Parts: sequence; structure tokens; C-alpha cells
Amino acid sequence: MRLATPLLATLGILAASCTTAPGLHEGHAGHAPHAAPGGRVAVDFPEPLRAHTLANMRDHLLALGEIQQALADGAYDRAAHTAETRLGMTSLAAHGAHDVAKFMPEGMQAIGTGMHRAASRFATEAANVGATGEVKPALAALADVTRQCAACHAAYRMR
Ligand code: HEC
Repeated sequence: MRLATPLLATLGILAASCTTAPGLHEGHAGHAPHAAPGGRVAVDFPEPLRAHTLANMRDHLLALGEIQQALADGAYDRAAHTAETRLGMTSLAAHGAHDVAKFMPEGMQAIGTGMHRAASRFATEAANVGATGEVKPALAALADVTRQCAACHAAYRMR
């Protein structure tokens, strides 16, 4: 499964962190990212994409909080809408994801795609709660979203 790869790579770096992790090269993207001192791969985004991406990240965090509040309010449709439009597949065009993706190593792209898919899955599960009364699948999907945030942050940083 592709999503596991960066995580495994990160664990490998942690295991090897007493020695200097010599150049973790992902090689697939034309961008030749370098291993950071802390073991994360540093990725070069040109401005204004870099600032744009960080602003987008801050909105991701805001969206997670709004989703949790909506769940606490029992407002499942609102939770679904926030997830789909701010984090899900629907958010991709608004975020200029196509422009950004070409600067990402393949593993980073995979985690990003996994996050957007998980958010859309959450949106579907949250929208279903009204009919099924079953919240757990939505909560599990939301945990999956957060896991992908953490996985990407553990493996990559911006230069
Ligand atoms: C595909 C990779 C990826 C995913 C997925 C991802 N991020 Fe990030 N995020 C980054 C990178 C890279 C940075 C820059 C970190 C650095 O340079 O130390 C960042 C930075 C951030 C920042 C700091 C912004 C700033 O102004 O400095 C926040 C907040 C953040 N992310 C939240 C999130 C949340 C919440 C999610 C999940 C919903 C998420 N991110 C998913 C890659 C990702």
C-alpha cells in the first residue's frame, strides 16, 4: 500500500538517527529533495506557492476544529460540508492542488491524495449519520484524515 511507504521511510530514519541519515532520495520527482537534519525530507516550493500552501495548511487546522464542533453539535451535514469543501476532493481545485503537486515528491503526493480521499470518505459517512444514526464510521474516517496530516508532517518539511 503506497501510503505506508513514507511512514516506513520515516521510521527507518528514526532508527538510523544516531548516524547521520545519508541522503534520503526519493528521486521520482524532478526536484531531488534532500533529507533534513531532523530526518524530514525538505521540499522546495517556489513563492508564492509556499506561502499559499502554508495558508492552506492553517485553514486545514481550522477546518478540523470546525468539523469537531459540528460533530459536537450533532450537525452532521455541516460537518460533511466543511470536510468536503475545505479538505476533501472538492477542495483540490480551490487549493490550486495541481500547481503544488508537481513540486512534491511522489510519496508526499500520495499522502496528500490519501488525506483528501479520507476527508471525502468522512463527508460521506457524516452525511449518512442522519439516516443510520451510526457515528463511529465518520469518527474513524476523521481519525484517518488526522493520521495523514501527521504522516506528511513527520516525513516532509518545507525548505
Ligand atoms: C502532503 C503533505 C501534508 C499533508 C497531508 C498535510 N500537511 Fe500540513 N504541512 C505540510 C508541510 C510540508 C508543512 C510545512 C512544515 C515545515 O516546513 O516544517 C505543513 C505545515 C502545516 C502547518 C503550519 C502552517 C504555517 O503557517 O507554518 C499547519 C497548521 C498544518 N500543516 C496543518 C495541517 C493539517 C491540519 C493537515 C491535515 C488536515 C495537514 N496539515 C496535512 C505538509 C502537509
